Amino acid sequence: MVLRLPPAADIHVHLREPGETHKEDFATGTAAALAGGVVTVLAMPNTRPPLTEPAAFHKALQRARQAARCEVGLFLGGTAGNAETAAALAGQAAGLKLYLDATYGPLRLEGLLALLRHFEAWPGPRPIAVHAEGRTVAMVLGLAALFRKPVHFCHVSRREEILLIRRAKEQGWPVTCEVTPHHLFLNEADLPRLGPFGQMRPPLASRADQEALWAHLPIIDAVATDHAPHTIEEKQGPNPPPGVPGLETMLPLLLTAVAEGRLRLEEVVRLTATGPRRIFGLLEPPESAVEVEWGGPWTISREGLFTKCGWTPFEGMPVRARVRRVTLWGRVVFEDGRVLAPPGSGRVLFAA
Ligand code: NCD
Ligand code: ZN
Ligand code: ZN
Ligand code: ZN
Repeated sequence: MVLRLPPAADIHVHLREPGETHKEDFATGTAAALAGGVVTVLAMPNTRPPLTEPAAFHKALQRARQAARCEVGLFLGGTAGNAETAAALAGQAAGLKLYLDATYGPLRLEGLLALLRHFEAWPGPRPIAVHAEGRTVAMVLGLAALFRKPVHFCHVSRREEILLIRRAKEQGWPVTCEVTPHHLFLNEADLPRLGPFGQMRPPLASRADQEALWAHLPIIDAVATDHAPHTIEEKQGPNPPPGVPGLETMLPLLLTAVAEGRLRLEEVVRLTATGPRRIFGLLEPPESAVEVEWGGPWTISREGLFTKCGWTPFEGMPVRARVRRVTLWGRVVFEDGRVLAPPGSGRVLFAA
Protein backbone atom coordinates (compact mmCIF):
# COMPACT_ATOMS: atom_id res chain seq x y z
CA MET A 1 0.00 0.00 0.00
CA VAL A 2 1.28 3.48 -0.88
CA LEU A 3 0.43 6.62 1.05
CA ARG A 4 0.89 10.30 0.12
CA LEU A 5 2.02 12.67 2.85
CA PRO A 6 2.90 16.37 2.96
CA PRO A 7 6.68 16.82 2.63
CA ALA A 8 8.54 16.98 5.93
CA ALA A 9 10.52 19.93 7.33
CA ASP A 10 13.44 19.27 9.69
CA ILE A 11 14.15 22.40 11.68
CA HIS A 12 17.35 21.16 13.37
CA VAL A 13 20.19 19.72 11.29
CA HIS A 14 23.97 20.09 11.14
CA LEU A 15 25.27 20.18 7.58
CA ARG A 16 28.87 20.96 8.66
CA GLU A 17 29.59 23.65 6.07
CA PRO A 18 31.87 25.47 6.30
CA GLY A 19 34.84 23.70 7.79
CA GLU A 20 33.90 20.10 8.50
CA THR A 21 32.90 18.76 5.13
CA HIS A 22 34.53 15.42 5.88
CA LYS A 23 31.45 14.81 8.10
CA GLU A 24 28.74 16.24 5.80
CA ASP A 25 28.20 19.05 3.30
CA PHE A 26 25.23 20.84 1.76
CA ALA A 27 25.05 18.38 -1.15
CA THR A 28 25.22 15.18 0.91
CA GLY A 29 23.12 16.48 3.80
CA THR A 30 20.30 17.58 1.53
CA ALA A 31 20.53 14.27 -0.37
CA ALA A 32 19.98 12.54 2.98
CA ALA A 33 17.06 14.88 3.62
CA LEU A 34 15.33 13.99 0.35
CA ALA A 35 15.92 10.27 0.94
CA GLY A 36 14.14 10.73 4.26
CA GLY A 37 11.15 12.58 2.81
CA VAL A 38 12.42 15.93 4.12
CA VAL A 39 12.38 18.83 1.64
CA THR A 40 13.11 21.69 4.05
CA VAL A 41 16.04 21.82 6.48
CA LEU A 42 17.17 24.51 8.90
CA ALA A 43 20.92 24.22 9.50
CA MET A 44 22.74 25.08 12.72
CA PRO A 45 25.59 27.60 12.99
CA ASN A 46 28.15 25.55 14.99
CA THR A 47 30.37 25.23 11.94
CA ARG A 48 34.04 26.20 11.51
CA PRO A 49 34.06 29.16 11.47
CA PRO A 50 30.70 29.44 13.20
CA LEU A 51 27.95 31.51 11.53
CA THR A 52 28.12 34.53 13.81
CA GLU A 53 29.41 37.34 11.59
CA PRO A 54 28.15 38.67 8.23
CA ALA A 55 31.11 37.40 6.17
CA ALA A 56 30.88 33.77 7.29
CA PHE A 57 27.07 33.82 7.21
CA HIS A 58 26.90 35.16 3.64
CA LYS A 59 29.57 32.75 2.46
CA ALA A 60 27.58 29.83 3.88
CA LEU A 61 24.41 31.11 2.19
CA GLN A 62 26.33 31.26 -1.06
CA ARG A 63 27.59 27.66 -0.64
CA ALA A 64 24.07 26.51 0.18
CA ARG A 65 22.81 28.19 -3.00
CA GLN A 66 25.41 26.32 -5.06
CA ALA A 67 25.09 22.89 -3.47
CA ALA A 68 21.71 22.33 -1.81
CA ARG A 69 19.17 19.96 -3.35
CA CYS A 70 16.18 21.13 -1.29
CA GLU A 71 15.07 24.12 0.78
CA VAL A 72 17.74 25.24 3.27
CA GLY A 73 17.63 27.98 5.87
CA LEU A 74 20.53 28.93 8.13
CA PHE A 75 20.56 29.90 11.81
CA LEU A 76 22.83 32.60 13.16
CA GLY A 77 24.89 31.76 16.24
CA GLY A 78 24.96 34.03 19.26
CA THR A 79 28.26 34.95 20.92
CA ALA A 80 29.19 37.20 23.84
CA GLY A 81 29.82 40.09 21.45
CA ASN A 82 27.49 39.79 18.46
CA ALA A 83 23.98 40.68 19.70
CA GLU A 84 23.68 43.79 17.48
CA THR A 85 25.34 42.12 14.50
CA ALA A 86 23.04 39.10 14.73
CA ALA A 87 19.97 41.31 15.13
CA ALA A 88 20.91 43.17 11.95
CA LEU A 89 21.03 39.85 10.05
CA ALA A 90 17.76 38.55 11.51
CA GLY A 91 15.81 38.98 8.27
CA GLN A 92 18.10 36.56 6.46
CA ALA A 93 18.21 33.83 9.11
CA ALA A 94 15.95 31.03 10.29
CA GLY A 95 16.47 32.29 13.82
CA LEU A 96 19.11 32.96 16.44
CA LYS A 97 20.71 29.89 18.02
CA LEU A 98 22.09 30.12 21.54
CA TYR A 99 24.14 27.25 23.00
CA LEU A 100 23.66 27.54 26.76
CA ASP A 101 24.91 24.11 27.88
CA ALA A 102 27.89 21.98 26.89
CA THR A 103 27.75 20.36 23.47
CA TYR A 104 29.76 19.92 20.25
CA GLY A 105 31.33 23.02 18.71
CA PRO A 106 32.79 26.39 19.63
CA LEU A 107 29.60 28.33 20.41
CA ARG A 108 28.85 27.96 24.12
CA LEU A 109 27.46 31.23 25.49
CA GLU A 110 28.65 31.83 29.04
CA GLY A 111 27.36 34.44 31.42
CA LEU A 112 24.01 36.13 31.87
CA LEU A 113 24.85 39.54 30.42
CA ALA A 114 25.46 38.22 26.91
CA LEU A 115 22.16 36.34 27.06
CA LEU A 116 20.35 39.48 28.20
CA ARG A 117 21.86 41.47 25.32
CA HIS A 118 20.59 38.91 22.80
CA PHE A 119 17.08 38.95 24.26
CA GLU A 120 17.10 42.76 24.10
CA ALA A 121 18.42 43.00 20.56
CA TRP A 122 16.82 40.12 18.65
CA PRO A 123 13.91 41.58 16.64
CA GLY A 124 12.05 38.39 15.77
CA PRO A 125 9.65 37.42 14.36
CA ARG A 126 11.55 34.16 14.00
CA PRO A 127 12.55 32.56 17.28
CA ILE A 128 15.55 32.48 19.54
CA ALA A 129 16.34 28.74 19.53
CA VAL A 130 18.16 27.40 22.55
CA HIS A 131 20.20 24.38 23.49
CA ALA A 132 19.11 24.37 27.14
CA GLU A 133 19.06 21.43 29.52
CA GLY A 134 17.63 21.00 33.01
CA ARG A 135 17.59 24.20 35.06
CA THR A 136 18.67 26.22 32.04
CA VAL A 137 15.20 25.55 30.60
CA ALA A 138 13.62 27.28 33.62
CA MET A 139 16.01 30.21 33.28
CA VAL A 140 15.20 30.71 29.59
CA LEU A 141 11.46 30.42 30.25
CA GLY A 142 11.84 33.38 32.59
CA LEU A 143 13.46 35.40 29.80
CA ALA A 144 10.76 34.41 27.29
CA ALA A 145 8.10 35.70 29.69
CA LEU A 146 9.99 38.89 30.54
CA PHE A 147 10.84 39.85 26.98
CA ARG A 148 7.78 38.32 25.29
CA LYS A 149 10.00 37.11 22.49
CA PRO A 150 9.48 33.74 20.81
CA VAL A 151 11.75 31.04 22.19
CA HIS A 152 12.15 27.61 20.67
CA PHE A 153 13.53 24.79 22.81
CA CYS A 154 15.71 22.37 20.86
CA HIS A 155 15.80 18.63 21.55
CA VAL A 156 13.80 18.50 24.81
CA SER A 157 14.72 15.19 26.40
CA ARG A 158 13.68 15.02 30.07
CA ARG A 159 10.43 14.80 31.95
CA GLU A 160 11.03 17.88 34.13
CA GLU A 161 11.81 19.97 31.04
CA ILE A 162 8.62 19.10 29.22
CA LEU A 163 6.57 19.63 32.41
CA LEU A 164 7.95 23.18 32.68
CA ILE A 165 7.35 23.92 29.01
CA ARG A 166 3.78 22.68 29.34
CA ARG A 167 3.21 25.14 32.20
CA ALA A 168 4.63 27.98 30.12
CA LYS A 169 2.37 27.11 27.20
CA GLU A 170 -0.64 27.02 29.53
CA GLN A 171 0.26 30.58 30.53
CA GLY A 172 0.28 31.60 26.88
CA TRP A 173 3.99 32.38 26.80
CA PRO A 174 5.53 32.43 23.29
CA VAL A 175 7.41 29.13 23.52
CA THR A 176 7.67 26.16 21.18
CA CYS A 177 9.66 22.94 21.43
CA GLU A 178 10.95 19.98 19.48
CA VAL A 179 11.90 16.40 20.39
CA THR A 180 14.26 14.14 18.46
CA PRO A 181 13.62 10.66 17.09
CA HIS A 182 16.54 9.31 19.17
CA HIS A 183 15.00 10.53 22.43
CA LEU A 184 11.66 9.03 21.36
CA PHE A 185 12.95 5.66 20.16
CA LEU A 186 16.06 5.05 22.32
CA ASN A 187 16.88 5.43 25.98
CA GLU A 188 19.86 4.92 28.28
CA ALA A 189 19.26 1.16 28.30
CA ASP A 190 20.49 1.20 24.68
CA LEU A 191 23.85 2.72 25.68
CA PRO A 192 25.77 -0.52 26.37
CA ARG A 193 24.82 -1.79 22.92
CA LEU A 194 25.48 1.48 21.10
CA GLY A 195 28.64 2.67 22.88
CA PRO A 196 29.88 5.92 21.31
CA PHE A 197 27.19 5.67 18.61
CA GLY A 198 24.61 6.32 21.33
CA GLN A 199 26.32 9.46 22.60
CA MET A 200 24.77 12.82 21.89
CA ARG A 201 23.72 16.00 23.74
CA PRO A 202 21.37 15.93 25.50
CA PRO A 203 22.28 12.31 26.31
CA LEU A 204 19.83 9.42 26.04
CA ALA A 205 17.61 9.64 29.11
CA SER A 206 15.70 7.22 31.31
CA ARG A 207 12.69 5.20 30.24
CA ALA A 208 10.52 7.51 32.40
CA ASP A 209 11.86 10.53 30.52
CA GLN A 210 11.23 8.80 27.20
CA GLU A 211 7.66 7.95 28.22
CA ALA A 212 7.06 11.54 29.32
CA LEU A 213 8.00 12.74 25.82
CA TRP A 214 5.50 10.33 24.25
CA ALA A 215 2.82 11.35 26.73
CA HIS A 216 3.37 15.05 25.94
CA LEU A 217 3.41 14.78 22.14
CA PRO A 218 0.15 16.78 21.96
CA ILE A 219 1.95 19.89 23.32
CA ILE A 220 5.19 19.28 21.40
CA ASP A 221 5.41 21.41 18.25
CA ALA A 222 7.75 19.34 16.11
CA VAL A 223 9.94 16.30 15.77
CA ALA A 224 13.37 17.46 14.57
CA THR A 225 16.25 15.10 13.96
CA ASP A 226 19.23 17.08 15.30
CA HIS A 227 20.99 15.31 12.40
CA ALA A 228 24.57 15.59 13.76
CA PRO A 229 26.91 13.53 11.58
CA HIS A 230 30.39 12.58 12.78
CA THR A 231 32.54 9.97 11.03
CA ILE A 232 32.78 6.38 12.28
CA GLU A 233 36.49 6.94 12.96
CA GLU A 234 35.74 10.01 15.09
CA LYS A 235 33.03 8.13 17.01
CA GLN A 236 35.38 5.22 17.68
CA GLY A 237 38.32 7.47 18.55
CA PRO A 238 39.57 8.48 22.00
CA ASN A 239 37.32 11.58 22.29
CA PRO A 240 34.07 10.70 20.50
CA PRO A 241 32.17 13.88 19.60
CA PRO A 242 28.49 13.85 20.64
CA GLY A 243 25.85 13.62 17.92
CA VAL A 244 24.00 11.13 15.72
CA PRO A 245 22.56 11.35 12.19
CA GLY A 246 18.79 11.15 11.73
CA LEU A 247 17.46 12.60 8.48
CA GLU A 248 16.91 9.28 6.70
CA THR A 249 15.29 7.43 9.58
CA MET A 250 12.79 9.91 11.12
CA LEU A 251 9.76 9.16 8.92
CA PRO A 252 10.23 5.36 8.84
CA LEU A 253 10.46 5.30 12.66
CA LEU A 254 7.44 7.57 13.24
CA LEU A 255 5.34 5.72 10.66
CA THR A 256 6.28 2.42 12.27
CA ALA A 257 4.81 3.79 15.50
CA VAL A 258 1.65 4.50 13.48
CA ALA A 259 1.62 0.92 12.16
CA GLU A 260 1.95 -0.30 15.75
CA GLY A 261 -0.96 1.87 16.93
CA ARG A 262 1.23 4.10 19.15
CA LEU A 263 0.74 7.28 17.14
CA ARG A 264 -1.89 8.67 14.77
CA LEU A 265 -0.96 9.50 11.19
CA GLU A 266 -2.34 13.05 11.58
CA GLU A 267 0.09 13.50 14.48
CA VAL A 268 3.02 12.49 12.28
CA VAL A 269 1.95 15.07 9.69
CA ARG A 270 1.61 17.75 12.37
CA LEU A 271 4.95 16.92 14.00
CA THR A 272 7.01 16.62 10.80
CA ALA A 273 5.34 19.07 8.40
CA THR A 274 2.75 21.60 9.55
CA GLY A 275 4.08 22.03 13.12
CA PRO A 276 7.73 22.78 12.30
CA ARG A 277 6.75 25.10 9.41
CA ARG A 278 4.43 27.07 11.68
CA ILE A 279 7.24 27.82 14.18
CA PHE A 280 9.35 29.47 11.47
CA GLY A 281 6.57 30.95 9.33
CA LEU A 282 7.37 28.66 6.40
CA LEU A 283 5.00 27.77 3.58
CA GLU A 284 4.83 24.22 2.30
CA PRO A 285 6.50 24.14 -1.13
CA PRO A 286 3.87 23.77 -3.87
CA GLU A 287 3.43 20.53 -5.84
CA SER A 288 5.45 18.59 -3.27
CA ALA A 289 4.73 15.30 -1.54
CA VAL A 290 6.24 12.18 0.01
CA GLU A 291 5.03 8.77 -1.10
CA VAL A 292 5.49 6.13 1.54
CA GLU A 293 5.21 2.38 1.16
CA TRP A 294 3.79 0.37 4.03
CA GLY A 295 4.74 -3.24 4.63
CA GLY A 296 8.02 -4.89 5.40
CA PRO A 297 9.27 -5.23 7.98
CA TRP A 298 12.43 -3.73 6.55
CA THR A 299 15.57 -3.32 8.64
CA ILE A 300 17.30 0.04 9.11
CA SER A 301 20.83 -0.26 7.80
CA ARG A 302 23.78 1.91 6.97
CA GLU A 303 23.71 0.42 3.46
CA GLY A 304 22.42 2.97 0.99
CA LEU A 305 22.46 5.95 3.36
CA PHE A 306 23.22 9.29 1.72
CA THR A 307 24.68 11.00 4.79
CA LYS A 308 28.44 11.20 4.48
CA CYS A 309 28.91 9.73 7.95
CA GLY A 310 27.63 6.35 6.76
CA TRP A 311 26.17 4.99 10.00
CA THR A 312 22.97 5.18 12.04
CA PRO A 313 22.20 4.63 15.73
CA PHE A 314 19.03 2.79 14.61
CA GLU A 315 20.99 0.06 12.75
CA GLY A 316 19.08 -3.24 12.85
CA MET A 317 15.73 -1.79 13.93
CA PRO A 318 12.73 -3.17 12.01
CA VAL A 319 10.47 -0.60 10.32
CA ARG A 320 7.06 -0.95 8.65
CA ALA A 321 7.31 1.99 6.26
CA ARG A 322 9.82 3.38 3.77
CA VAL A 323 10.06 6.46 1.56
CA ARG A 324 9.42 5.45 -2.07
CA ARG A 325 9.26 8.75 -3.92
CA VAL A 326 9.59 12.44 -3.09
CA THR A 327 8.31 15.26 -5.28
CA LEU A 328 9.48 18.86 -4.86
CA TRP A 329 8.11 21.77 -6.95
CA GLY A 330 6.54 19.28 -9.33
CA ARG A 331 9.74 17.29 -9.93
CA VAL A 332 10.62 13.82 -8.69
CA VAL A 333 13.69 14.39 -6.50
CA PHE A 334 13.99 10.94 -4.91
CA GLU A 335 12.78 7.58 -6.15
CA ASP A 336 13.52 3.99 -5.13
CA GLY A 337 16.80 4.67 -3.41
CA ARG A 338 18.08 7.23 -5.92
CA VAL A 339 18.42 10.98 -5.34
CA LEU A 340 17.51 12.73 -8.59
CA ALA A 341 17.87 16.40 -7.60
CA PRO A 342 21.33 17.76 -8.49
CA PRO A 343 23.35 20.04 -6.18
CA GLY A 344 22.20 23.62 -6.66
CA SER A 345 18.62 22.69 -7.57
CA GLY A 346 17.48 23.61 -4.05
CA ARG A 347 16.57 26.97 -2.65
CA VAL A 348 17.90 29.14 0.16
CA LEU A 349 15.20 30.37 2.53
CA PHE A 350 14.86 33.88 4.06
CA ALA A 351 17.84 35.33 2.20
CA ALA A 352 16.60 36.20 -1.28
C1 NCD B 1 25.46 18.51 17.90
C2 NCD B 1 26.59 18.55 16.88
O1 NCD B 1 27.26 17.53 16.68
O2 NCD B 1 26.76 19.57 16.22
N1 NCD B 1 25.68 17.37 18.75
C3 NCD B 1 24.76 16.77 19.54
O3 NCD B 1 25.13 15.86 20.27
N2 NCD B 1 23.48 17.12 19.49
C4 NCD B 1 25.40 19.79 18.67
C5 NCD B 1 24.04 20.02 19.33
O4 NCD B 1 23.02 20.01 18.64
O5 NCD B 1 23.97 20.24 20.55
ZN1 ZN C 1 22.88 39.97 3.18
ZN1 ZN D 1 22.06 21.08 20.90
ZN1 ZN E 1 21.99 20.08 17.11
